[in-house]
Amino acid sequence: MREKNIILSPSLLACDFARAGEQLAALERAGIRQIHLDVMDGIFVPNISFGQVVIRSLRKSTSLFFDTHLMITEPERYIEDFAAAGSDRITVHLESCADVGPALSVKPGTPAEAAFPYLDRCAALLVMTVEPGFGGQGFLHGMLPKIARFREEIDRRGLSTILQVDGGIDCTTAPLAVRAGAVDLVAGSSVFGKPDPAQAARALLEAAVQ
Ligand code: DX5
Ligand code: ZN
Repeated sequence: MREKNIILSPSLLACDFARAGEQLAALERAGIRQIHLDVMDGIFVPNISFGQVVIRSLRKSTSLFFDTHLMITEPERYIEDFAAAGSDRITVHLESCADVGPALSVKPGTPAEAAFPYLDRCAALLVMTVEPGFGGQGFLHGMLPKIARFREEIDRRGLSTILQVDGGIDCTTAPLAVRAGAVDLVAGSSVFGKPDPAQAARALLEAAVQ
């Protein structure tokens, strides 16, 4: 059996931005090590979120690992900016980038095989389990075979690529994603949508390995 060392990455998109610093501190106290930062430009996806200014400001108040997910057109123009703002990992979409970076994401309509040529140089591979753009959508169960396909290929090549899933992750879907081979779970509404996000994060991590 594969060791189940699961990472939970709460997605800031669903937090109460007026209390963001305080909410991140509570998560950190609860043992969370990583936060997912969704950057949207209103063009690559039909929604606008936040950018470098917010990330730079949060960087001053927390030592959490900043997992930045760029849902923007021409992400290569901004990678240095987001790194300078304090991102620890920057994920770009295969669908928006000709020269893919060290972490890559695929939308639901993109088959796993399309990312295979880049796998060897990917520190992380993020499988979207909803259409990117909005939090609070339902998990696309049809993505489970794609997660399994990536897991099989990563293991077959002996890679250490972190397999991440994003969208609709809650206590019911987290174990399904983990069983399919995901090790890093992004969750927005099922953490920040709860009265006690730190408690919800702990419960989600527990459910994930059931
Ligand atoms: C969607 C974002 C997700 C989003 C997940 O485009 O990439 O990270 O915040 O939100 P939930 O967990 O609510 O589906
Ligand atoms: Zn995301």
